[in-house]
Amino acid sequence: MSVEKTRICVLVSGGGTNLQALLDAQKAGRITSGKIVLVGSNNPEAYALTRAAEHGVDSFVFTEEAALLDKLAEEEIDMIVLAGFLKILSPNVIRAYEGRIINIHPALIPSFCGKGCYGLHVHEKALEYGVKVTGATVHFVNEIPDGGQIIAQKAVDVLPEDTPETLQKRVMEQAEWILLPEATEAVAAEIRKGKN
Ligand code: GRF
Repeated sequence: MSVEKTRICVLVSGGGTNLQALLDAQKAGRITSGKIVLVGSNNPEAYALTRAAEHGVDSFVFTEEAALLDKLAEEEIDMIVLAGFLKILSPNVIRAYEGRIINIHPALIPSFCGKGCYGLHVHEKALEYGVKVTGATVHFVNEIPDGGQIIAQKAVDVLPEDTPETLQKRVMEQAEWILLPEATEAVAAEIRKGKN
């Protein structure tokens, strides 16, 4: 019996380097239990949408959550991956996809997370504090910003000469772009088992 792949929607807001890592992993056969069938963004200018188009993946732009929920239902989405997505999802969406939404955060939660802690600000805070090690976390999404169960983490050294920009780049290269595809495959496989 052919077991259907978990249908994945990736939500983005910006450059889409994490989306790119997911698409590259799918192409390289490192994501096999799920298929990225849709990319959604709250930002029509997001370069991530160009990356989706280059990979032949459908995309849509939304402002209201009702439109998001309609599209997810229409496309029979099983799993949502937040990859640089900057809006907070309402309890409505979170409940509708309980245990099936994951997010990548560019720090080792519980450090440098929660309200207002996103993108470059995370690395500014890490450098300000003077931590010697930071990294990235993939976690399930619940109603507390960056509060859901941790799925995976990867540590990255902070160097004395680091700026927020150099640190962000290293955390992306050495942690985010490795962790997110691995976690996406693992959770997609779990959903696929439960789904069939
Ligand atoms: C990344 O640092 C990611 O961890 C955070 O948003 C930043 C931009 O991600 N959530 P991307 O290049 O748009 O994937």
